[in-house]
Amino acid sequence: MDQISMVEVNVEVPIAAIILNREQKLNALNTNLYLELYDILRQLENNKEVCAIIITGRGKAFSAGADIYEFYNMDQQKFAEFLKIARMVYDFIENMNKLVISAVNGYCLGGGFELALAGDFIIATKDALFGFPEIRLGLIPGSGGTQRLTRIVGRNKAKEIILSGRFITAEEAEMLNIVNKIVNNEALLEEAKKLASDICKFSYNAIYKAKRAINEGIESPISTSLSFEIELAINLFNHDVKKKIESFIYKKKEGRIT
Ligand code: COA
Repeated sequence: MDQISMVEVNVEVPIAAIILNREQKLNALNTNLYLELYDILRQLENNKEVCAIIITGRGKAFSAGADIYEFYNMDQQKFAEFLKIARMVYDFIENMNKLVISAVNGYCLGGGFELALAGDFIIATKDALFGFPEIRLGLIPGSGGTQRLTRIVGRNKAKEIILSGRFITAEEAEMLNIVNKIVNNEALLEEAKKLASDICKFSYNAIYKAKRAINEGIESPISTSLSFEIELAINLFNHDVKKKIESFIYKKKEGRIT
């Protein structure tokens, strides 16, 4: 019998939906799931027709984090290999030439929260719960949690969330700028697709360059980042942009834009 995939993908150009499919285990992330996810992401990265990727979870969780049962059988070296794989996947997501929207339903914990943070936006259902429970196991987030969360919420709030291990609601996550939008449970995928298609009507290249300017710029001194921004903007100023400018001016003359 064929083994059921732990990750499903559904492409409706220009949007691809990736569904974590380990519902019975609240989409806990194990090595095989990461490798399946990585494989799918690499295929989508090369698909020029895809502009946006939505990542969501089947059932009552986005993901309850790393698979604790897999941890149970690991020694320190195996744990290090696991974290290396997780990092490879999350870094890949962060740097993709696609818009990545994390559509969070229910529990979004530990490695699941880190997965959501690696994307560009998070939209969440009203009942979504975020948190880093690693501290309860004597661990810390090891796949970007201490870094990506801190860059969003600031040092002290990140410490409070990570050191308390407490769960935060979608509402609090929105106030902390973690969540871009809260939606009704049944509308999650539809809203994520709407958000994606509203953006994907623009130039894919411009979307990607804006993402790079922000992601890479925030990590460098501002003078370097401003130069990088100029470089990307100049690179975009091509024939297609000239045509769009021409069409804007033409419509204005015709009185179709005021
Ligand atoms: N790893 C492996 N399995 C997990 C898991 C995880 N992180 N989180 C949940 N599961 C499994 C449970 O073992 C259970 O499977 P089983 O019925 O075969 O035993 C199933 O998913 C449902 O979880 P359950 O605990 O029964 O659901 P709940 O609604 O009572 O509680 C949580 C939900 C998320 C609060 C609880 O599952 C939990 O605390 N999970 C661990 C979260 C965590 O610490 N993540 C970070 C890991 S470093």
